[in-house]
Amino acid sequence: MGPMTHPVVAADLASSADYAAAVASAVAASAAYYTDGSSPLGDDEYDALVRAIEAWEQAHPQDVLAESPTGKVAGGAVQGDVPHSVPMLSLDNVFSAEELADWAAGLERRLGRAPAGWCVEPKLDGLAVAARYRAGVLQQVLTRGDGLAGEDITHAADAVLGLPGRLAEPVDVELRGEVLLTTAQFEEANRIRLAHDAAPFAHPRSGAAGTLRAKDRPYRIELTFFAYSAIGLDPDLGHTALLERLAALGVNTAATTAAAPRRCETVEQVQQRIAEITGLRAELPFGIDGVVVKADDAADQQQAGSGSRAPRWAVARKLAAEHKVTRLLDVEWAVGRTGIIAPRAVLEPVVIDGVTVTYATLHNPADIERRGLMLGDQVFVYRAGDVIPRVEAPLVDQRTGNETPIAFPEVCPRCGDQVDRTEQRWRCARGRNCQAVASIIYAAGRDQLDIEGLGSTRAVQLVEAGLVADIADLFTLTREQLLGLERMGETSADNLLAAIEVARGAALGRVVCALGVRGTGRTMSRRIAAHFGSMAALRAADTDTLAEVDGIGTEKARLIAAELAELAPLLDKLTAQQVGVQVEEPQRAAAATEAAADGGAVGPLAGEAVVVTGSMTGQLAALSRNEMNELIERASGKASSSVSKRTTLLVAGEKAGSKRTKAEELGIRILTPEEFADLVADHLPQT
Ligand code: IVH
Repeated sequence: MGPMTHPVVAADLASSADYAAAVASAVAASAAYYTDGSSPLGDDEYDALVRAIEAWEQAHPQDVLAESPTGKVAGGAVQGDVPHSVPMLSLDNVFSAEELADWAAGLERRLGRAPAGWCVEPKLDGLAVAARYRAGVLQQVLTRGDGLAGEDITHAADAVLGLPGRLAEPVDVELRGEVLLTTAQFEEANRIRLAHDAAPFAHPRSGAAGTLRAKDRPYRIELTFFAYSAIGLDPDLGHTALLERLAALGVNTAATTAAAPRRCETVEQVQQRIAEITGLRAELPFGIDGVVVKADDAADQQQAGSGSRAPRWAVARKLAAEHKVTRLLDVEWAVGRTGIIAPRAVLEPVVIDGVTVTYATLHNPADIERRGLMLGDQVFVYRAGDVIPRVEAPLVDQRTGNETPIAFPEVCPRCGDQVDRTEQRWRCARGRNCQAVASIIYAAGRDQLDIEGLGSTRAVQLVEAGLVADIADLFTLTREQLLGLERMGETSADNLLAAIEVARGAALGRVVCALGVRGTGRTMSRRIAAHFGSMAALRAADTDTLAEVDGIGTEKARLIAAELAELAPLLDKLTAQQVGVQVEEPQRAAAATEAAADGGAVGPLAGEAVVVTGSMTGQLAALSRNEMNELIERASGKASSSVSKRTTLLVAGEKAGSKRTKAEELGIRILTPEEFADLVADHLPQT
């Protein structure tokens, strides 16, 4: 196995071959990271890899490879050509509150006392630079390079906000700090890049790295500098005081942000501030990958000193990475309320910042093409301040050849009409009407209002003629209006009107289902109908009353309440037209509940959790799955679609498959459709 084929080696290394492979992986990843930010390993994986390498080296000190990244600044990745005045050190990392406490205790032992105070500040996720000023005028800007020498990037200084060309005082000083793209700058940069037919940056750090190095770009991308230390000012200044002094010189520091550096007196306060900054992370206008804890007083710093790689008086409490690499499995196309057809990425689940991500935003079809995304690609997924993560770019060099092109919709995925491709964001040619057509087709379906003769052609006609904008409008259609439509004869018109009249008397559960409330299906709609009993009561439902419905948790109640609020005008229209006033189900359900409470007789399925599978035969042959579920509920049972430990009865028709096997394994009672029909004979639909 080559080193790059198993990039994640987080577990213990078992042999010297594993160790060598791990070192090779880390060196390659580190080189890619520091050259263009395109590391095949996420930050977490890299850290885990280096920790495994360190552990192996401790056990085998005589076998440490010269190229090992341990003990080296930037993993030994890059060399520049301008020597640094003082080495640019890195930071040691800790990964938990306990490790931080241990580290602080270690420093205390070394000093022989507790440090006089601490400073806690964000660990900015950008690139370290050194900026040299003579008599207050900027002379030279260098990258960190290997820590001993860096690359001259003075040409880029103009575009770096917060790094002034002239300081407020004519001092000789070397600033040290981080250059990054804020979230807004990153988005702007990618807008500019796309406008210039350049590939978008995968994430802010690689964007900042590329921008600092680039020389002859035909466009300008702004960056931001945050200073976190300086050489040449009063050596007795503590860290907090130094940051204040820098701000007074006109230099940007993290003090301008919500995660401002703060002096803490105790380790408990330090932990508290770390928690605060971590909590702020999602809202910060720039990326952080940790929180830095520093002994604040100059005397403590001097006494603790530094190792070859990192100071002993400071440490980084690392946070989980906010961007990850995962696989693009599929692209789904969703049609919004205005008819916009938006792509959405389906991802191999990946945990980003403690949240499992399976979907991410893709901007629009043109953007997918410009980014050159393909199905099966390894992609950077980025979770910035926003909640919905975004797919930024594919890792082109990780391709295997099995990637396939992303299919773009030929027709509107909701209503099947043409797609308007004149704008970057594609739209259904029907625009807002797409929603109306689709919801009417759905509402007229067999399991909802069951309006025979109202298929997609008729729905399109009705919407386009301006006769129907929502399902309530169906109930005010007149014979004259219908006859005015093309290919609508008298018989068809009368049949359609008759079917609509039948639908007016549909049980409330079916009308609720016809509304297409997100978060509800047929079963849930019936339960909601049974609970509220009338359209007016449903109209008045709020999160609390919805949460009382069996199977609706608080989260779902909130979603449904929001949907109902949006549908309020439609509910009013339906109420006015006396639609769904037949509350046969709820009355029965209420009666059943009351009867049960009285200890009286209820339907034969009381207390049963019933699942139906396979094709129904005999008296049940004509029933759709939804009608079967309605039957179960009329007989006081609870219908569900999957077999679990809670299932008490399975109705297994012909060609019953895995559900039957599972029910057998669980020892659940199984009935044929005929046996079941006998059991619920009193509740069968009248024919
Ligand atoms: S202090 C001698 N403070 O993190 C002091 N570094 O992983 C060394 N970084 O090389 C650095 N934010 O590029 C310090 N507030 C901060 C920082 C910070 C980001 C970077 C810096 C450093 C790297 C170590």
